[in-house]
This record gives sequence, C-alpha cells and structure tokens, in this order.
Amino acid sequence: MKIAIGNDHAGTTYKETIVTHLEKLGHQVINFGTNTNDSVDYPDFAHLVSKEVSDAKVDLGILLCGTGNGVAITANKYSKVRAGLAWSKEIASIIKQHNNANVLVLPARFIAEVQAIEMVDAYLNAEFEGGRHKRRVDKISSC
Ligand code: RB5
Repeated sequence: MKIAIGNDHAGTTYKETIVTHLEKLGHQVINFGTNTNDSVDYPDFAHLVSKEVSDAKVDLGILLCGTGNGVAITANKYSKVRAGLAWSKEIASIIKQHNNANVLVLPARFIAEVQAIEMVDAYLNAEFEGGRHKRRVDKISSC
C-alpha cells in the first residue's frame, strides 16, 4: 500500500518507528515530516498529507500530533478526507470498519509507542463493512 505520513514535533519519534514498521511490512511510505523535535505548526504537515489523500495519490494517510486533534481538525477540512482519531486498537479498527477513515490520527503524547504500532496494524488490517455504515458515511458532507 502507498501511505502518506506526517506529524508535528510531538509525533516525530513515534513516526520514525511507524515508518520503519510499515516499510518492513512492504508498504511504500511517503514521509512529509517534520523530522525533528523542533517546534512546528501542525497544520503545515496535516495539509500535506491530507492533500495527498484527497488527490488519491496515496491509499491512506497517518497523522500524529500531541493530542491528535489539531491534525484531525485540519485533515477533516478536506471533503474527501475522513480522518479518525484513535486511542486504542479497537477504535483504530472501527474507524475503518464503520467510518471508512482514510486517515488514521494518533495522539502521540497520550499513547505508548507499542500502542501506536498496534493501532497502525489494527487500522491497516481492518476493512470497511459497507451496508448501513456506507449509508451513514454517504450522509457526511461539507456544509
Ligand atoms: C503542540 O504543542 C500541540 O499543540 C500539538 O501537538 C497538538 O496537540 C495540537 O492539537
């Protein structure tokens, strides 16, 4: 799979681990940064990943910031992006199964690194269930 990933300074360390993990699994990862712990503005990186997903240049996106909310709010400004914030592997599965999330958002300051990896795996291994969930997802639209 082709996966875009981006983060602010709060997510750099976990991002590096996630990229290594994804590449070991054979995925093609496009890393939009940031790649240091120097303070940056999360929208700058969330926009880069969201645009890539919105333009269908990648299959999925992953975003990290401290709480996950800044990047999620930014990503969900794109009408074709469904960014889901996950803080457990169950939620990481459900955002794909029920919401057909095309961006996984992780709150780097509130989860352990091992959980971040578990959530990435749960999200990638889950499939959208369609049916009543498709009807609901189809009702999501920009205002
Ligand atoms: C950065 O300090 C922090 O505000 C950011 O990582 C994120 O939590 C914003 O939503």
